[in-house]
Amino acid sequence: MSQDVTFVNGFPFIPYHQPVRSASEMAERANRFFEEMSARRSIRDFSADPVDRIVVLKCIETATTAPSGANKQPYTFCLVSDPHLKKQIREAAEKEEYESYTKRMSDEWLDDIRPLQTDWHKPFLETAPYLIVVFKKAFDFAGAAKKNNYYVTESVGLACGFLLAALHQVGLAALTHTPSPMNFLSSILQRPENERPFLLIPVGYAAADALVPDIKRKPLSELLVEYVEN
Ligand SMILES: Cc1cc2nc3c(=O)[nH]c(=O)nc-3n(C[C@H](O)[C@H](O)[C@H](O)COP(=O)(O)O)c2cc1C
Repeated sequence: MSQDVTFVNGFPFIPYHQPVRSASEMAERANRFFEEMSARRSIRDFSADPVDRIVVLKCIETATTAPSGANKQPYTFCLVSDPHLKKQIREAAEKEEYESYTKRMSDEWLDDIRPLQTDWHKPFLETAPYLIVVFKKAFDFAGAAKKNNYYVTESVGLACGFLLAALHQVGLAALTHTPSPMNFLSSILQRPENERPFLLIPVGYAAADALVPDIKRKPLSELLVEYVEN
C-alpha cells in the first residue's frame, strides 16, 4: 500500500488528485470528445480483417473501469473468436431473429426499425473477427453462498457504454445487438446459472462498402431540462 493511505473507520482511503485544466482547455476537450463520439455508428457490415486481440482486451479492461453498484462489477465479458462458436451463435441468433421479425415484433416496432433496414439475417456474427458477449450477474458466489449485486442493469449498461466508447476511439467498429431472447448464448458459451446474457457486440472493422442509415440524433434542446437560480 502507498504511504498516502489514511484510515477512515478502519478503511483505507487515498488522496484523489483532480487534473487541473484551464477553462479553454476544458472547452476544447469537451468539443473534441463530442466530435469523436458523434462519429460513432452502429455497424452491420463488417470486414473479416483481423483485429489486434490486445487492443480489444484493453477496451474491455476500460469497460471494467465504469462505476458499478457497491463496486461489485457484476458482469462477465466473453471474447469469442472461435469460428465454430461464431457459426453456432449466428445460427441460433438467426433462428430467434426469424421468429421475432416474422411473428413476435409488433407493427409499431417493425415500423420503428424500418429506417434501419435490418432483417433476420445476421452474417456479421460470423464475419466480424470478434464477438464480445456481455453477461450480467444478478448475484455472485462466495463459496456456496450467494452474494448480492446491486443496480446490476445500470452497472452493466454503464460498462457497455464505456466499452463502446473505447472501441470507437481506438478505431474499431461495433454493433449493439440483442437477438432476443438471448438464452442461447448461455448454453453455447456454457455460462453459470448466475449469469444472464446482456448484449452481443460484434467487433471489427467496417466493410469498405459499409452503409449506415442516415438517421438523426435529437438536438440537446429536446433532451435537456435545465434548472437555474432566478
Ligand atoms: C440496447 C440496444 C439494443 C440494440 N439492438 C439492436 C439489434 O438487435 N440489432 C441492430 O441491428 N441494432 C441494435 N441496436 C442498435 C440501434 O439500432 C442503434 O444504436 C440506433 O439505431 C442508433 O444508431 P447508431 O448507433 O448508429 O447511432 C441496439 C441498440 C441498443 C442501445
